[in-house]
Amino acid sequence: MINQKNQKPQLSEGESNTSNRRLEWEEDTHNEETRKVLEQDAHFFINQTVSSPCLSVVKKAKGACIEDTNGQSYLDFHGNSVHHIGYGHPDLKKAISLQMDALPFAPRRFACDSAIELAKKLAKITPGDLSKVLFTAGGSDAIEVALKIARAATGRHKTISFWDSFHGAGFGAASVGGEQLFRSHVSGPLLSGTEHVAPFACYHCPYGYPDHNGKPQIEICNSTCADFVRYVLEKEGDVAAVIAEPVRAVPYIPPPGYWKTVRKACNEFGALLIFDEIPTGLGKTGKMFACEHDETVPDLLVLGKALGGGILPIAAVIARAELDVAGNYALGHYTHEKNPVTAKAALTTIEIIEKENLVENAAVLGKYMFDQLNLLKDKHTSIGDVRGLGLLIGVEMVLNKNQKTAADDLAEDVLYRCLDKGLSFKITMGNVLTLSPPLIITRKQVDLSLKILDQCITEAEKSVYL
Ligand SMILES: Cc1ncc(COP(=O)(O)O)c(C=O)c1O
Repeated sequence: MINQKNQKPQLSEGESNTSNRRLEWEEDTHNEETRKVLEQDAHFFINQTVSSPCLSVVKKAKGACIEDTNGQSYLDFHGNSVHHIGYGHPDLKKAISLQMDALPFAPRRFACDSAIELAKKLAKITPGDLSKVLFTAGGSDAIEVALKIARAATGRHKTISFWDSFHGAGFGAASVGGEQLFRSHVSGPLLSGTEHVAPFACYHCPYGYPDHNGKPQIEICNSTCADFVRYVLEKEGDVAAVIAEPVRAVPYIPPPGYWKTVRKACNEFGALLIFDEIPTGLGKTGKMFACEHDETVPDLLVLGKALGGGILPIAAVIARAELDVAGNYALGHYTHEKNPVTAKAALTTIEIIEKENLVENAAVLGKYMFDQLNLLKDKHTSIGDVRGLGLLIGVEMVLNKNQKTAADDLAEDVLYRCLDKGLSFKITMGNVLTLSPPLIITRKQVDLSLKILDQCITEAEKSVYL
């Protein structure tokens, strides 16, 4: 038998949780209570990379903050992208509680009001003519429902998606995903016909073109990354769908015109366009949907994560009405597909986002944070790139700005210093500090986070360079 434990897949969106820095931090930080719970967690749960071992033990989650059993409170700039409206929003808790009293569950053969109200709301707020929905309990399932709809509507099965992307852990979602740790060894064999192309990633253009300050030089690269999608669509000739995140959660934003080019190519070759907005949807990027930045309407849009308001699990596929063509087959038929409580949670979450102008807050504070981080980039030799949109921002740590040598260890040093000062975030691809604050974040909290980052980067740089 192959010992999978000793095999290490390539870097991913998740961070390493077995490094020496991590072990040292745990040693210095955890009290007796935390250690005991972590031991239990390690004992009872099946190990899997990225999830285990756990960082600490969360005890409270309120607003933009979490608190652990060490008594440390953290501004949570990770939150698995579920915490747009903050943890435990009182209006959401009330709505869920009332719904549980009124109607706690709907067996699948029955319609229910709150599911219909949510479907109506999603049809209203999504762009273009997206108007028919299906719900699932998780994002991966919703991605697979979207893939099945694309197969049904086109009579084709092939897909084009990005290397390095993540669309969920199910076999179908992992097949269109592009990360080794979700695709190799335990996950194979995967779906056939799932072609991959290199994604847009201007700071590290996979096609070898130079960037300027992290931005594409379109006059040099001629949007080769977008044209390559077209090229594969043409060569294959019978692709059902292109599936991708319009703004990559790494994060990377598309070069100007990228999605317009791909949309046009999809139309030309009869493929559908599926946007996975599971982390970016509902305002994260400063517009209700990330695809609105490029004025590109997909044929199917997939939402999840924050849709359940950070309390309940619910995901959704929203499609053009003409794609409702597979009525004789099962696309999902999931147990919780019309759960009145999760549906009510999603509806209330969207209402809170609208009522509290959270999309605008994400745009305004996101821009402010982006500008301030760029000032830090000028000040610190170790910040190679700052990129993102709205409240999804990546700070790439490098040892050398010209060569862009990844500063993985320094990035980790910054992370653990920040945790000690009350700021939590995730490291992506080994050296990108990925900052994803909730949409309820205040200017004061942003300023505090910037101060912590500045201080910790200064300290980490000193410890590396002196
Ligand atoms: C872009 C993207 N798609 C899909 C998923 C899968 O969602 P879930 O974990 O709910 O299955 C995720 C989760 O992190 C994601 O970030």
